[in-house]
Order: sequence, then structure tokens, then C-alpha cells
Amino acid sequence: MSEVSLATAAEFREAARRRLPRFLFDYIDGAAYDELTCRRNVADLGAVRLRQRVLRDVSLVDTSTDLLGESWAMPVALGPVGLSGMYARRGEAQAKRIASERGIPMCLSTLSLCSLEEVAAASERPPWFQLYIMRDRRFLQDLVDRAEAAHCSTLVLTVDMPVPGARYRDARSGMSGPNSAASRLLQAATHPGWAWDVGLRGRPHRLGNLEPLLGAQSHIKDYMGWIARNFDPSVTWREVDELRRRWSGRLVLKGILDADDAREALNHGIDGIVVSNHGGRQLDGVPSTAAALPTIAAAVSDRMAVLVDGGVRSGLDVVRMLALGAQGVLLGRAWAYALGAAGGAGVSRLLQMMDAEIRVAMALGGVTRVEQIDQSLLAS
Ligand SMILES: Cc1cc2nc3c(=O)[nH]c(=O)nc-3n(C[C@H](O)[C@H](O)[C@H](O)COP(=O)(O)O)c2cc1C
Repeated sequence: MSEVSLATAAEFREAARRRLPRFLFDYIDGAAYDELTCRRNVADLGAVRLRQRVLRDVSLVDTSTDLLGESWAMPVALGPVGLSGMYARRGEAQAKRIASERGIPMCLSTLSLCSLEEVAAASERPPWFQLYIMRDRRFLQDLVDRAEAAHCSTLVLTVDMPVPGARYRDARSGMSGPNSAASRLLQAATHPGWAWDVGLRGRPHRLGNLEPLLGAQSHIKDYMGWIARNFDPSVTWREVDELRRRWSGRLVLKGILDADDAREALNHGIDGIVVSNHGGRQLDGVPSTAAALPTIAAAVSDRMAVLVDGGVRSGLDVVRMLALGAQGVLLGRAWAYALGAAGGAGVSRLLQMMDAEIRVAMALGGVTRVEQIDQSLLAS
């Protein structure tokens, strides 16, 4: 099977598992503690039953939508995924190019290999930019200034990671811990395709957005350790307010899982939220996003944009999330697997597959426009 003939997220996952060194595959695939919430995200979403409707003239299905002041070709965006430049050569720039070709937004992670400037140069529309608040506030200042200079429309502040959740796979895979450098080298040697494409030709392996402040320390060799030392657990709504004052573009909070927090976000002038549990990578045991979404959407979706992520692996899953109350969906692992399996061509194929599945699901549910997808599409 040629790589771009891969069609499902499960096939991309398996191809990424074969192509990537274990420390990278496990970093993408893994989650916190027993990985219960991660599995629950997928299981709960898959269990959402849709209504089948008939004889409603579905000859013209339109997947486009307007959200956060922009037109999207479908209600899907590439969400922030750290280290994507390690899954394929200059992976963030490749992914941005594909997202633009397909008419959807991409949100670049703070912790990417390609810098914001490199990714902004990859296509006409600048990416959205995801921020973490670090102890040294110069990072934040610098990143916001750069997002402004790059003409980003939207900042996405991730608020569910004041401390990193324990991800045991990372400790065992060579991603972190003693002897991890030697382990990673050995793994690279046994994955020659990756070693040539990314290990050698994909250099520099530095966190491009942090390099101006970190210099040589921005090398990814102690990635998890650096996160643990530098993320700021003291963050409160005060920092959100400061950012709101400084940033005149759209501001989105990512990592909301509670209706009270969503309501609070309204009081702080936030334009949108991403209902998210970080793909089960933070607090294991919290509800799936499919379970949390309806209550949150009911509380705030008439006053702010409600996006969601977690367990979305297909176009059908996108329609399920919309039926549960979201207006847009962020992909996480789905696009990371596709990028790791087949680079930009993989991401392109994944998005093509999602588009086709959304169209078929809409037609068989008897709707022709994205705005018509709501809870009336849920089977009781
Ligand atoms: C490998 C990996 C790296 C991630 N890095 C970030 C990040 O840098 N910033 C962020 O806000 N979320 C990050 N996330 C979380 C995703 O944006 C998203 O919330 C999550 O992956 C959604 O779940 P799903 O992968 O099951 O679709 C990451 C997720 C993965 C799998």
C-alpha cells in the first residue's frame, strides 16, 4: 500500500508507528497515567449515535463555515501539536501549507521546531499561534510581539497545563529520563527513513519559537525537563486579563472542561474556547470532551465560539462533535499520525478523507449546511 493511499486515522497511526522512532511515536500516542481519559475521548465520541434522515434533497452539500471572523472550507482546524517538526522534515511548515491549500486554519504550538516566522512564510495566511505562559514573562512578551508582527489573527492560550501530567510512556521510551540520549540515537539508527529525512535533513532540531531567548538551550534534548522547569503553575485569570489588554486580535482559551470556567471566560472578554482535556495528556480521570461538551456549549455558545478537540479521528467524528454543540473541531493526534506516516502528503490525504466523510454524513443526516448540524441530528 503506498503511503498516500492510507485513508483512516488508524492506518496513519500504524504507518507512523513503523516510520517514527519509538520515543516520537509514544510521545504522540501516549497520554497521562493509565491513559483512561485518552481512550474515553475516542470511545465516548464513537458511541454518539446520529439520526438518519431521508428524502431531503441533499444534492448540494456545503461544508464551509464562518468562525472567529474567518471563513473555513470545513469546520476543522489543525490544532497545536508540539514537536511536529520531528515527525516530518520541517513538519509545521509542511502542515501549514496543506492547511492553507485545504482552506482551514492551523494553530502553531509554542513548542514547535519551525518558528512562527518560518511557518508564516509557508503560505499566504498566517497561522494561529498557541501560547503557554512560562515563568520568565519575557517569553510571553516576545511571543505576543512576534504574533503581532506575523499578522496572526488569533492567539490560543492553553490553560490546562500549569504543570505537566505524568506521561509514563515518555519515561520508558527515551523521550526523557536517564540514558535517553543514547536510547534516541539507537532508535534513530533503526529507522533509517526517518533518520535521513528528519534526523539529518530536518535540522536544526531546536524549539524555533524559543530560540531567540534560549539560544543553544532550545535544543530538544531535554524537552520534558525543560517544560517541567519553565511552565508557570501560578497562572490565574489575571494573566488572561493582561494578555487580553495587550492583544487586540481574537483570543481563545484552550483546555476548558467545566461550564463554570467557560462562563468565567465570558467575563474576561474571551472570543472563544476549546473544550479540551489535552487529549487525555493532563489529568487522567476527567470526563471525555464528548461528555463535557453539551453542558458547556449550552452555557456559552450563543456568546462565544465553542471549539472542541479530543478523540476526533474521522469526518464522522467532526459531525458528532458539531451535533453535540461545537462550532468547530481541532485535530490533534489525527494529523500528527498522518504527518509522521507520510509528511504533508499524509496530512493532505487525511483532510481529503475528512472532507468526504463530513459530506456523506451531512447528506445521510439530511442536512446541507454546517449551521444545520445541531442536537436535532442526535439519535435519542
Ligand atoms: C504529540 C502532542 C503534542 C501536543 N502539544 C500541544 C501543545 O504544544 N500545545 C497545546 O495546546 N496542546 C498540545 N497538544 C494537545 C492537542 O492540541 C489536543 O488538545 C489533543 O491532542 C486532542 O486530542 P486528540 O489527539 O485525541 O485528538 C498535544 C497533543 C499531542 C498528541
